[in-house]
Amino acid sequence: MSTLTSHAPAKLNLTLRIVRKRKDGFHELDTLMVKLRDLHDTLTFTESDTFRLTCSDPTLPTDGRNLVTKAALAYHAALGTPCRHSIFLEKAIPHAAGLGGGSSDAATTLAGLDALHDHALGTPKLMEIAASLGSDIPFFLGEGAARCTGRGEIISPAENPPPLDVLLLKPAFGVSTPDAYRRWANSRTIPTVPYGEQEIDGLRLINDLERPVFAKHRFLAELKLWLLARPEVRAALLCGSGSTMCAILQPSANPSTLAAAVLQELDPTLWHHAGQIG
Ligand code: C5P
Repeated sequence: MSTLTSHAPAKLNLTLRIVRKRKDGFHELDTLMVKLRDLHDTLTFTESDTFRLTCSDPTLPTDGRNLVTKAALAYHAALGTPCRHSIFLEKAIPHAAGLGGGSSDAATTLAGLDALHDHALGTPKLMEIAASLGSDIPFFLGEGAARCTGRGEIISPAENPPPLDVLLLKPAFGVSTPDAYRRWANSRTIPTVPYGEQEIDGLRLINDLERPVFAKHRFLAELKLWLLARPEVRAALLCGSGSTMCAILQPSANPSTLAAAVLQELDPTLWHHAGQIG
């Protein structure tokens, strides 16, 4: 019996610029995305009579609300055959975190099923299905860093960033992506919070979703300010629509010491992950 195990990495938006709101309700974006290979979900595909998704996280739905199930159904609708694989999804990327976990799982499902079918559909068709399922799913089918435009689904390869140490911090609450975009046009800045570009080794980090998300979730603005006041933090930026905050660290920084300090001073329930991009 053939099985396949694939990693579905998290992503970071190093820049996220909202160009305008479109007539179809989506927002026109210009975003630089990178994969965070040391934080990933794992999907295991096993031959089976019918499709079934099981998941290590019992709080996640496994029916048609899960992007893995949506992707498997869409793949087989395009291929014209019933699905003969079960998928076990081992979650490590937190949910509603702005780290692209669900999108990456969907892309990995499409790529995994196509590999198991001798690449019967091929990348252009997978890209088309991916874009129909979610704006940032095509990015995960590509290699490395990408500049993404349109609603995020038009990807062009970009230079990988220089190696950077990061510490990700996420409070227990998540952020709804549609809600963050909906609030963007009319939200206000908080006077003490810096929202502008942060320059790091030629990168200009910025996230236009910080304004609406901080206005609703003040704790995230407080977390950014706390991080920026630490000497070992070079920059701090909301990940996508949040609720994860990414701190870019000095090479000499100790991420465990920083994580311990933020947990003690701000919130002992923060999820955290130390990793590297580039
Ligand atoms: O495409 P996806 O399903 O990931 O998007 C979730 C929601 O986020 C959309 O329904 C829309 O409300 C919002 N969104 C947006 N503009 C984008 C991407 C997402 O307004 N470029």
